[in-house]
Amino acid sequence: MSRKHIIIGNWKMYKNMEETQTFINQFSKLIKGKDIKCDYGIAASFTNLPVLKLNQVNKLIMVAQNCHYEPEGAFTGEVAIKMLKDINVSHVVIGHSERRMYFNETNETINKKLHALFNANLIPVLCCGESDSEYEAKKTNDVIKKQISLALTGIKSQHVTKLVIAYEPIWAIGTGKTASAAEAQTVCKMIRDYIAELYDKNIAQKVRIQYGGSVKPENIKSFLEQSDIDGALVGGASLQAKSFLGLLV
Ligand code: 13P
Repeated sequence: MSRKHIIIGNWKMYKNMEETQTFINQFSKLIKGKDIKCDYGIAASFTNLPVLKLNQVNKLIMVAQNCHYEPEGAFTGEVAIKMLKDINVSHVVIGHSERRMYFNETNETINKKLHALFNANLIPVLCCGESDSEYEAKKTNDVIKKQISLALTGIKSQHVTKLVIAYEPIWAIGTGKTASAAEAQTVCKMIRDYIAELYDKNIAQKVRIQYGGSVKPENIKSFLEQSDIDGALVGGASLQAKSFLGLLV
């Protein structure tokens, strides 16, 4: 089954509005006349998303880095899904390891966010991945299965088919250390087999699974050649227009 690749740049807490505008100007020039086959998007900070919306770069998917699961309310500092929809956000990164580590994001809150996003017709990019010590202790599969089964509790199969999962081993994020393409393929296949166990094989074949962790233009092809890797979630190498374009292979 062929799945369209999806490449997402995760800008984390980088760039102000002017820098975002500069990126867009450069990227728009560079992409002109290019035949890009994959889906591609940028997960910008909440304050920079309106800059992306105003510029309406051809086919660029607008991605948020987080959302709240309640429709509205007294939740100081949070952003509601309908606010994101207002500015054309269609995908939201959920459960990034940095949010799990620094902001007490749990599998339970992640599950609530997935329910809220699917109910609003938005697509979650569900992040999972093991830490260095879990990797060394060969606990990768157990950790990821737990993250996925708890995140997907009660999620209907018609929604799961739209899901994007990002496998990001924490030890490979921002370290310059990547999993080998074969290692990443093994884990992404394990994830797909597990979705087949939880739902069924057809559904598992539709889910797009990204690899993330020190992906760059120089190594992205080796990951995308793998049969169960359908894209990448990229931090550092997505911040410059030329380098981001180099990821859209
Ligand atoms: P780097 O590509 O900078 O390693 O970051 C990966 C990541 O966390 C993307 O979400």
